[in-house]
Amino acid sequence: MKRIMTSAMIGGLVAASLGFAAQAEGTKDSLVINGEDGPVKIITHVKNPPAGSPLPELFSGWVFRSKETRALEADDFDNPGMIFVEQAWETWNTPDGKAGKSCADCHGEPSSMKGLRAVLPRWDDKQGKLMTLEDYINWSRVEHMGAKPWKYGGGQLTSMVALISLQSRGMPVNVKTDGPAKKMWELGKKIYYTRVGQLDMACSNCHEDNYGKYIRADHLSQGQINGFPAYRLKNAKLNSVHARFKGCMKNIRAKPYKVGSDEFRALELYVASRGNGLSVEAPSVRN
Ligand code: HEC
Ligand code: HEC
Repeated sequence: MKRIMTSAMIGGLVAASLGFAAQAEGTKDSLVINGEDGPVKIITHVKNPPAGSPLPELFSGWVFRSKETRALEADDFDNPGMIFVEQAWETWNTPDGKAGKSCADCHGEPSSMKGLRAVLPRWDDKQGKLMTLEDYINWSRVEHMGAKPWKYGGGQLTSMVALISLQSRGMPVNVKTDGPAKKMWELGKKIYYTRVGQLDMACSNCHEDNYGKYIRADHLSQGQINGFPAYRLKNAKLNSVHARFKGCMKNIRAKPYKVGSDEFRALELYVASRGNGLSVEAPSVRN
């Protein structure tokens, strides 16, 4: 059959079949997390995003969740994601690999990693590639510990990402998109706006054009990643950024890129940059 519909018409049809329901405001409440070392203020709303932002305002996904789900994130004792962080802390102190060393032997306390999560992914000249936090951890395991890399998106790696991300909680995301990172950023942007799958949709069709609306029972967010890894009530575990991307691609019946692929690294950089200014919020709680 010849394609005679314009993309706007297709978009309209898809919206009708999926049923984007009326706009509903996200919460105006602010998030202060009662953590072990005292309260942490989280920036969940940026009124004036950096110049060139495709979004008029930035919102953390937290803003669109139900009151009950939001409450789980406001206290570390209630946040089920913290169990995985504690497991990672044990791993941090446990020797592994041929060198017989633990993370702690070389890095001291996890707090030595403060600030790192806020600037990742970033281009690394020494590595000659765009590095995610997962990449750094696995590189350090292989290079410094003589240990095997953990599975990208797997439980051990994602929990360690959560422990290290937690050290930056509250700090504004600030990834660099210029210089040598630019090419990957542009690839990520292209992927973000490209319609794919049987539903012929792009990330932007949901997370830019329709955030704030309901899609089935879900209150659509901007698809930000400042809260990752995210504990999802749906699968009762921590979910990596790439796993979430994969899930969204599957939902629109597209063939997802692989977890740990360069395409998802590029998309991660691009999506992170759309949230520059929101706080690192990991581990967040989502449905
Ligand atoms: C034998 C020492 C050693 C061990 C053990 C070790 N690392 Fe490293 N790690 C390093 C060195 C050296 C670097 C590079 C530091 C640099 O380039 O600034 C590094 C870099 C990193 C980085 C990037 C930091 C940054 O600021 O760019 C991360 C993340 C990391 N390691 C995590 C871990 C984790 C998690 C473990 C345990 C699973 C671990 N490392 C075990 C020595 C070690
Ligand atoms: C058909 C609509 C749709 C499309 C297209 C879509 N998503 Fe989503 N996405 C959702 C829904 C629904 C959720 C769960 C509610 C929410 O947070 O928006 C979600 C959640 C997310 C989240 C989690 C946000 C958080 O704070 O927990 C991220 C990140 C995300 N999407 C990224 C993407 C990316 C990247 C793409 C393109 C590859 C994409 N999505 C395509 C519907 C979509």
